[in-house]
Amino acid sequence: MRNWFRLGSTLVAGALAIASFPALAQNYPTRAITLMVPFAAGGPTDTIARIVSDHMARTLGQTIVIENMLGAGGTTASTRAMRASPDGYTIIMGHMGTHAASVALYPNLAYKPDVDFEPIGLAAGTPILILARKDFPADDLKSFSAYVKANVAKMNQAHAGVGSVSHVTGLLLDSLLEVKPTLVPFQGTAPAMNALIAGQVDFMTDQIVNAVPQIQGKTIKVYAIGTPQRNPALPDVPTSEEAGLPGFQASAWNALFAPKNTPKPVIDRLSAALSQALDDAATRKRLLDLGSDIPDGNRRGPAALANLVKSEMAKWTPIIKGAGSGK
Ligand code: MLT
Repeated sequence: MRNWFRLGSTLVAGALAIASFPALAQNYPTRAITLMVPFAAGGPTDTIARIVSDHMARTLGQTIVIENMLGAGGTTASTRAMRASPDGYTIIMGHMGTHAASVALYPNLAYKPDVDFEPIGLAAGTPILILARKDFPADDLKSFSAYVKANVAKMNQAHAGVGSVSHVTGLLLDSLLEVKPTLVPFQGTAPAMNALIAGQVDFMTDQIVNAVPQIQGKTIKVYAIGTPQRNPALPDVPTSEEAGLPGFQASAWNALFAPKNTPKPVIDRLSAALSQALDDAATRKRLLDLGSDIPDGNRRGPAALANLVKSEMAKWTPIIKGAGSGK
């Protein structure tokens, strides 16, 4: 009897909660929003999250609290975000790793990026750079490649965890150079960058947003960018094609997601706030100065992001399988 009563009251409570969604969605947001960042503070994903959420908070009239949750190449935070209440008060800045490439690297991944999340919108594209410590004995990509091949046994390559952008684009570079250096994981490319600056690791591939200040400060070396065109923030950095490694085509992206079944009016409100941020002159300048690629109109919004997730899952899975998981 007591169990039936308990079940009954749970069902009623659930029905009441769902019934309140329209009202909830109408007044959303009425309190602070948590934006989960799956990597260490100061890295590219954290930087993009802080830049866009600054403006979004003003549009939404509520504080957006950044919560850095680390682990497993970003899949720990993504799993937590998937399981969060679908009410719009917990969202996550995912990326090409957490919401595409990880599928090929974690056979028991707890979530399906194209099923278990509501896409909100793309925040920024982030071309990938090939970077090395400042005293690395090579001045261009050709001599860098030759030195790595000749000394691979003592080469340490940094990344931000299995399935992260720096990991899978690092695998792409290694497969093109046909080398297997020692892979050194960190909880994000902010700490990985500190190790590179200190000369504790030899090289890594990373999102431009994290590297521009270090390249301008000459604290690290850069050999190429993985895009067909040079980047206005780093006009002297050759493309991988110009530098002689045309196969290294690599660009990442960072985007906002909410738990599955977050009401559409809430998603639309968040998506509109993100789009307004990307149209704001000061926000654009901060993103462009760091080399980001700001999505234009038809690359914005939930539907465009849903398509991107599917196409990126299809693109990176064979690359990763071809390169070997490199764990
Ligand atoms: C970070 O913010 O640290 C990066 O996005 C990690 C990565 O995926 O390489």
